[in-house]
Amino acid sequence: MNKPSSPDTVRLITGASSGIGLALVQHWLSETAPVIAVSRHATRNPALQSLQQQGLPLTCMDVDITGETALETLAHTCRQSNTLPTQIINCAGVLHDRDRGLVPEKRLEDITLEGLHNSFALNTFAPILLARHLLPLLPRRQPALFASISARVGSIEDNHLGGWYSYRASKAAQNQLLRTLAIETRRRYPQLCVMALHPGTTDTPLSTPFQRNVPEGKLFSPKRAARQLAHIMDHANEEQHGGFIAWDGSTIPW
Ligand SMILES: NC(=O)c1ccc[n+]([C@@H]2O[C@H](COP(=O)([O-])OP(=O)(O)OC[C@H]3O[C@@H](n4cnc5c(N)ncnc54)[C@H](OP(=O)(O)O)[C@@H]3O)[C@@H](O)[C@H]2O)c1
Repeated sequence: MNKPSSPDTVRLITGASSGIGLALVQHWLSETAPVIAVSRHATRNPALQSLQQQGLPLTCMDVDITGETALETLAHTCRQSNTLPTQIINCAGVLHDRDRGLVPEKRLEDITLEGLHNSFALNTFAPILLARHLLPLLPRRQPALFASISARVGSIEDNHLGGWYSYRASKAAQNQLLRTLAIETRRRYPQLCVMALHPGTTDTPLSTPFQRNVPEGKLFSPKRAARQLAHIMDHANEEQHGGFIAWDGSTIPW
């Protein structure tokens, strides 16, 4: 359905300032494919600034994707500047943010409304609102992609350990929204592939506090995770549309 980078493939990547999102920006820019990098402080991010200084085809936009008005403005800016993506890849996500009451819960007593709200705002509502406002920018009669990084722990069937209530639930809900989106878009965007992706445990600020129990050799560098995910997205096919796909191409049960 999709094909490896050509100059016509324009990727809009959220969560582009850190971890997996940044590594995906670097990966595709190394193929000199144009990228629109989105995060709250993308224009002031040293890694993104350095890529721009190298003359690579990178546009940075500062957007808090939890705000609907901000997403409307993002869509408007893309239209006005004729910077239209053919692929949208959502890599923004949150697991812990103590300042905003978000601590991965070990037990019921750890759950707070603030934590649930903040987790769902970014991990669940933002991806579908991103689709709501940006999908109209995608081509209708050419291959297009809407991928969002979920997490295996969002699988209900695979939940044997418990804990991390808000993160698990926000990713499970994201998966349901993406699946629903995949069904609805089938007719209007016959060449669009919608997918939820699991990157594997990756060495980023999000996973840093939880890396102690990761078995030897099972922690990916962001570069490796990006390479693996890019391979899946570059070769996305009809069968994967509406799926929950892991870094190695296997399907994860919902
Ligand atoms: N790392 C892992 O082991 C792992 C495993 C499974 C799934 N995942 C998933 O992979 C995705 C990427 O995670 P990561 O590990 O790369 O995390 P990360 O390094 O913490 O990066 C998170 C990104 O999200 C952006 N972001 C946060 N709040 C935002 C907001 N309100 N609006 C726009 N952007 C926002 C951050 O940029 P700003 O702060 O500049 O806005 C940053 O670029 C997440 O969805 C995560 O759940 C990660």
